[in-house]
Amino acid sequence: MSKVVFITGATSGFGRAAARRFAQGGWSLVLTGRRTERLEALRDELAAQVPVHIATLDVRDAAAVQAAVDALPADFRPVTSLINNAGLALAPVPAQKVALQDWHTMIDTNVTGLVNVTHALLPQLIETGAGASIVNLGSVAGQWPYPGGHVYGASKAFVQQFTYNLRCDLLSTGVRVTDIAPGMAETEFTLVRTKGDQAASDKLYRGTTPLSAEDIAEQIFYVATLPAHININRLEIMPTRQAWSAFAVDRDA
Ligand SMILES: NC(=O)c1ccc[n+]([C@@H]2O[C@H](COP(=O)([O-])OP(=O)(O)OC[C@H]3O[C@@H](n4cnc5c(N)ncnc54)[C@H](OP(=O)(O)O)[C@@H]3O)[C@@H](O)[C@H]2O)c1
Repeated sequence: MSKVVFITGATSGFGRAAARRFAQGGWSLVLTGRRTERLEALRDELAAQVPVHIATLDVRDAAAVQAAVDALPADFRPVTSLINNAGLALAPVPAQKVALQDWHTMIDTNVTGLVNVTHALLPQLIETGAGASIVNLGSVAGQWPYPGGHVYGASKAFVQQFTYNLRCDLLSTGVRVTDIAPGMAETEFTLVRTKGDQAASDKLYRGTTPLSAEDIAEQIFYVATLPAHININRLEIMPTRQAWSAFAVDRDA
């Protein structure tokens, strides 16, 4: 029987690249996201290769998530791997200048949305047992603070600790759990963060070599296809041309 991957945020960036990578590996695909036309285009692209099921889904809506999981056709269950990828950063400005709604949107998507999907799919993942996996998209921002990171970084710290705590509870089920924590990667991430400022997005990635969506998709596929007895707990990946910087110090003028 074919393995099934359930991907959130399959309409762009890492999620879309992961859909293509798993298709290449012969997996059946469950592709979700809010933009239906992009899901349809991806299904049209990949359906000749592997079985594809699409579901328009906002991960923030727990009832809709449960309904989408309940409505999975028989050929797409039980799910083998869940890729908890849907997420976003907003408001790249100091905390004191952020609109409260932007904080709520990040928490609702990156934290509440991720637990909604995990909760709905846990029974199927446990049914799959050995070889099953949950791959959560964290970030270097979950470990390393930076100005303007505020709730985004905190939400990714949640992803890291939730990953580790899930591992404790899922011990003996065979279900693996991994936090993949990328550094700078060129996707629609900065376009979303700046609310559509293409020039700001281009500027961020100009003159350097960021990670690509395909680079991260390869890592996602790697951890999900390791032998069943191996669990990568956390995989932090930066471009070679990115590193940490010195502490900032406030000084008298
Ligand atoms: N790019 C980076 O530098 C970077 C670094 C570290 C971590 N990450 C993390 O990697 C993940 C993927 O980001 P990306 O870089 O691929 O960004 P992206 O190109 O903007 O893709 C984000 C995806 O998340 C989906 N999404 C957002 N809100 C959603 C919601 N409420 N319900 C369902 N889907 C939703 C979007 O689909 P719809 O809009 O169609 O719903 C889209 O498919 C995120 O969790 C992000 O925090 C990114």
